[in-house]
Amino acid sequence: MNNRRLAILLSGRGSNFIAIHEAIQRGDLNAEICCVVSNVPEAAGLARAREYGLTSICLPSRGIDRAQYDRMLAEKIRPFNPNLVCMAGFMRILTQEFLREYPGRVLNIHPALLPSFPGLHAQRQALQYGVKVSGCTVHIADEGVDTGPIVLQRVVEVLEGDTEELLSERILKQEHEIYWRAIALVLDRMKQKEACGS
Ligand code: GRF
Repeated sequence: MNNRRLAILLSGRGSNFIAIHEAIQRGDLNAEICCVVSNVPEAAGLARAREYGLTSICLPSRGIDRAQYDRMLAEKIRPFNPNLVCMAGFMRILTQEFLREYPGRVLNIHPALLPSFPGLHAQRQALQYGVKVSGCTVHIADEGVDTGPIVLQRVVEVLEGDTEELLSERILKQEHEIYWRAIALVLDRMKQKEACGS
């Protein structure tokens, strides 16, 4: 399959990765996962990638300088020649050492309606602020914390008596719905650009 190769970066349970994988399996998303990389050796998402028989790479980040890590990451991924890099619960901010290899081709998902509530514990931040709606965002990643052009968003209502867990659960459901759709959108845009020769 040409030009629809995805590299997945994750650090934890990997439910977004699984949702992307399932969308591909169902035939909803025309793409292939060329590698899955985790910076956390014990990440459940990495174990799942192995079970699926996908190329699974463990590249621990602990104790390694940020720029150096990103160079190592870029080197690891380069042979698989991904068209798009999808951060799926990858708990790191990427530097230019990595990003410059994939200009406009790194996606991230965040459990809030950006630009509101970037960073950690976005759902808790939303509850504490008292917003009536929150949601999730897929965006093109840059060097900032959850900044960069927005590709897709979904709104999730905050309900009376919501807890962080309950809200997170409902938002996560929507994350699983939008990530693969955002990937499809970006891949199609890339194809159109290519066709225009730009
Ligand atoms: C998701 O809420 C995602 O938005 C955030 O980290 C969480 C990762 O969940 N960036 P999972 O590992 O994909 O299950």
